[in-house]
Amino acid sequence: MESYIIEENKPKSSRLPARLDLAQSGTGLILGLFMWAHMLLVGSIVLGKDAFDFVAKTMELSFLSDTGHGYPIAVFFAVSGVFTLFIIHALLGVRKFPISWRQHRVIRDQMQMMKHTDTNLWYIQVVTGFIMFFFGSVHLYTMLVNPGSIDPFLSADRVVSGNYWFLYFVLLISVELHASIGLYRLCMKWGWFKGKDARHSRKKLKTLKNRLMIFFLGLGFLALLMFIVIGWGHRQNAGERYQGTAYRQSHAATAEAPAASAAEEMEKTADETGAASHGADMQETAAPPADQAPAHDDAPADTPAPADDTEPVHDTAPAAGAASEHDTEAVQDAGTSDAAGPAQADSRTEADTHDQGSDAHEPTHSAQETQ
Ligand code: HEM
Repeated sequence: MESYIIEENKPKSSRLPARLDLAQSGTGLILGLFMWAHMLLVGSIVLGKDAFDFVAKTMELSFLSDTGHGYPIAVFFAVSGVFTLFIIHALLGVRKFPISWRQHRVIRDQMQMMKHTDTNLWYIQVVTGFIMFFFGSVHLYTMLVNPGSIDPFLSADRVVSGNYWFLYFVLLISVELHASIGLYRLCMKWGWFKGKDARHSRKKLKTLKNRLMIFFLGLGFLALLMFIVIGWGHRQNAGERYQGTAYRQSHAATAEAPAASAAEEMEKTADETGAASHGADMQETAAPPADQAPAHDDAPADTPAPADDTEPVHDTAPAAGAASEHDTEAVQDAGTSDAAGPAQADSRTEADTHDQGSDAHEPTHSAQETQ
């Protein structure tokens, strides 16, 4: 490929690769330190369900609300930030991957030839980075779309009933190797903690790296074991939320609050109804004389209904003409539009029955006409 590069276009000396390296180190440093914090927070499950529940609620900023309930949106933003860094870091990391078999062969030969641990560590970075492309993305996406599903039961259910135990097993080994080796290599690359004797400080940093790796792997496996034990015991009720002290406090507060307001509400309405019934009593005592009673309701059948009544015309006296109008309408319609034949027919027949068959209704109607 290199042979196709047009020499004139080749930039003289570009700072871009160095800048990309700096960005990769920067994102790697943040993600590495994040992973140590993440493992300590997830590792709180080792101290018990309430401890993990308290940590999860604190991560949801529940201390900001007066009822103690959490804000999963806070986790959503945290995951979005970490996921973005994760993708940028992966993109910058891909530049260093041996992408052809030839390149892969070269690095393997160099490792055998040099038997140099730091070169071997670099190869572990490539392999664990590759694994995390897939396993890390699954975990991060799960957290992104379920930010409110972090509690001792829901996390354990995800590990056991959701079969995430395999994902976490592989991801745990990959991320702890990658994060510890990555932070060690950053110190080597940028000369951090070099001290007076570089060789001595390198040895010390390597020991620290190994110890931290063993500590976080150990904590991670212990946490994974705890999740498996809790999840196995909880598999019958998978999906049920954990009702822990952190949650209970918040729950009690939330339960009390609506109960309190409900009580207040009832009191208020009781007052209102008290006031209303008192008003009604007052009214009754002040009820208008009988002759002013509104006609509409109990007026005898023959009195004409007030204008706003929606009853079809044919009920009232002037109804006769209207009725006939009605009939005539039906007739007319029947005459004109065939499409609506049957419907019309229906209405038609109805009118007919009106006129010919049903005595009960008819008398009043016809009685009026005859009058
Ligand atoms: C803000 C981003 C992240 C959040 C909120 C988060 C949250 C969690 C939670 C709650 C668990 C416990 C198990 C569960 O509920 O399913 C967990 C486990 C785990 N996470 Fe993350 N995680 C994040 C980022 C990452 C990243 C970037 C990696 C590595 C690439 C990672 C690797 C792991 C591993 C290996 C475990 C299993 C730990 C164990 O059980 O030992 N996490 N994470």
